[in-house]
Amino acid sequence: MPRLPALAKRYHSASVWALYGFGLVPAAVAFYLGATGQLPGNPVKEFEHLLGIWALRFLVATLTITPIRDLFGINWLRYRRALGLLAFYYVLMHFLAYMLLDQVLNVPAILADIARRPFITIGMAALVMLIPLALTSNTWSIRRLGTRWNTLHRLAYVIAAAGALHFSMSVKVVGPEQMLYLGLVAALLLWRLARKPYLRRKRQAASAPARAIPGKV
Ligand code: HEM
Repeated sequence: MPRLPALAKRYHSASVWALYGFGLVPAAVAFYLGATGQLPGNPVKEFEHLLGIWALRFLVATLTITPIRDLFGINWLRYRRALGLLAFYYVLMHFLAYMLLDQVLNVPAILADIARRPFITIGMAALVMLIPLALTSNTWSIRRLGTRWNTLHRLAYVIAAAGALHFSMSVKVVGPEQMLYLGLVAALLLWRLARKPYLRRKRQAASAPARAIPGKV
């Protein structure tokens, strides 16, 4: 399979910063359209929708980094932290939009919504689970937590599943867009389960010819 040309190492850090910059463009556009009264229909709902859908996109993108490396040998691990943090920023903005614009900081109504409307309970659970992941998305935490860091960050799959479920439950009729995200998250979860045996077989296949050469240890 033809390989993508590798990005020179000296551009790695700049490319990650560019990702943060480009990743925040949809939020900036949504803020601009909202502030200038150019959002269609119910502007608050539209604003919430834009932030929520980008949160889901970044959650899914974060989880595709590993299968892309396993299946195509493309190593974009350096972008995973930025994608995960962008997902967190979008969920936080989506939550703030709900709290400030939708509920106008009516705390009892917000608490009642979280307790009584299952799709909001699920969304809230996803936001709460994202907090420890965002706080430990730094090199210091990776070194300090060791293998526990990997265990903790597996929560990203639960969060993405909760996000896709929340999206599907927020609508009256589940349409192609909701199905797409449910399908993508299901595929990513299945890959997580199939990954270990797949990689083991790949390693075995790679070492088999070496073992077959007579005299080679
Ligand atoms: C991982 C976390 C979350 C993700 C990925 C997410 C994503 C989404 C998406 C894509 C929608 C559909 C928007 C639409 O089509 O109109 C939505 C709707 C909604 N979300 Fe979230 N959300 C998350 C967390 C939260 C939280 C924490 C809250 C508030 C506690 C919340 C409140 C809402 C509300 C109220 C709606 C419905 C808006 C409407 O009435 O159209 N979400 N969310």
